[in-house]
Amino acid sequence: MSNTKHKRAAGLGRRDFVKTSTLAAGAALLVPNILAAKAHIDGSDAIKIALIGCGGRGTGAIMQALSTKENVRLVAMADAFRDRLDDCYKTITAEDVSDWTGVAGNFKERIQVPEEHKFSGFDAYLKAIPLADVVILTTPPGFRPIHFEEAIRQNKQVFMEKPVATDAPGIRRVLAAAEEAKKKKLNVVVGLQRHYQTEYRKWVEMMQAGAIGDIVTSRVYWNNDGVWVRTREEYSQKAGRPLTEMEYQMRNWYYFNWLCGDHICEQHIHNLDVGNWVKNGYPVRAQGMGGRQVRTGPDFGEIFDHHFVEYEYEDGSRMISQCRHQPGTMSRVTETFQGTNGTAPKPGVLLTRSGHEIYKHDGSNDPNPYQVEHDELFAAIAKGEYRYADAENGAKATMTSILGRMATYSGNIIEWDAAINSEMSLMPQTFAWDAVPPVLPDENGMYACAIPGKTKVL
Ligand SMILES: NC(=O)c1ccc[n+]([C@@H]2O[C@H](COP(=O)([O-])OP(=O)(O)OC[C@H]3O[C@@H](n4cnc5c(N)ncnc54)[C@H](O)[C@@H]3O)[C@@H](O)[C@H]2O)c1
Repeated sequence: MSNTKHKRAAGLGRRDFVKTSTLAAGAALLVPNILAAKAHIDGSDAIKIALIGCGGRGTGAIMQALSTKENVRLVAMADAFRDRLDDCYKTITAEDVSDWTGVAGNFKERIQVPEEHKFSGFDAYLKAIPLADVVILTTPPGFRPIHFEEAIRQNKQVFMEKPVATDAPGIRRVLAAAEEAKKKKLNVVVGLQRHYQTEYRKWVEMMQAGAIGDIVTSRVYWNNDGVWVRTREEYSQKAGRPLTEMEYQMRNWYYFNWLCGDHICEQHIHNLDVGNWVKNGYPVRAQGMGGRQVRTGPDFGEIFDHHFVEYEYEDGSRMISQCRHQPGTMSRVTETFQGTNGTAPKPGVLLTRSGHEIYKHDGSNDPNPYQVEHDELFAAIAKGEYRYADAENGAKATMTSILGRMATYSGNIIEWDAAINSEMSLMPQTFAWDAVPPVLPDENGMYACAIPGKTKVL
């Protein structure tokens, strides 16, 4: 956080880490006015926003951006599917959005998206980005490297959701674009919102400063029931025809690795990121096990329903990671740390070895970190300041989750350096509704999933 050092190394090694998601205290840099996008809007000094990916998080993120106190306008929307864009537009232009924001009122004055600025299809992002000063990237993570690279190429400031890729080639693209963003002094915030959560900020800072000694073991969890399933039947019925395989995978994206990266990547990244943040670095290697026991039908694509990974850091300490999506099992989403002089049994609490309180923060009245991300980002942009450079850590946090997936899929020890330099791409060659995705079902509609000991991951 604000009093920690900030490394700017561009390399791919685990040592090239950023200690924090924000630039060092007092390091905000005034930048030239680059807010000059092409959309015509009322109030010419307003900050123009394009939303790329208008699903659940995109709808929430744009509400948060529009809730900031800066002079902002949503001017363009892009989604692969027009119906998702229309649903989002309807939600955000409602008379009363208090269900989302907690505050009575609406955003009508701040939303200026004419029909010709609503774009759908795989190339929708290319049409929306030029119209804005700030782009919000909230598609499934497989597309993030492509969209982020283009946004930075076009000198845009960015809020992008985690994860930021699903494979190592994607990670390298994000790291390269992150370097470009730094050179151009473009603010980038990544939706690893614990970095914007009061409960975590001081807690992590104190552990980094040695409040419980050296961290020897970290335990991180994302265990719960799992997420939605979008069935082929449901969307075929809506379309009034059978879906192409590409359409189906794009709808039910959570279950395909090229789009999602498996749930260790999609959700558990939050906890793995906290583990790295506390350790101030990234793992050197990982080994683990996983599989699927309840995700057995064709609707569940190719991902696992549980992973258990032992990550090793350079100092020999371990991060023990569990993520499970199995209804009816223990639910636990948190991080705990064991230090040589004490423990951190849960976020916001630090204890000595004998159990005396070193620090306790009750986070129940803290501001919503999802809102804080946007408040801080847009405040910096409005002042013409360069404050946020989250992309590098976002990429390496994502790489940590991909490393874990490589370990559980292969059943072998995987080294960070081999993993991040892997040329194995999960992405399709072509993006089109009739293009062939990288994985296909068998005659029973089932997709092959990884078999430890056999599956190649590098
Ligand atoms: N930080 C958090 O706590 C948090 C919470 C929820 C979601 N997320 C992240 O947000 C992202 C989106 O998740 P979601 O829950 O909103 O999913 P979603 O399915 O509700 O929305 C994704 C949207 O992106 C669209 N899309 C897919 N490919 C596209 C493309 N190439 N171009 C344009 N649009 C495209 C889809 O049609 C869909 O409307 C994921 O990366 C997820 O991890 C983060």
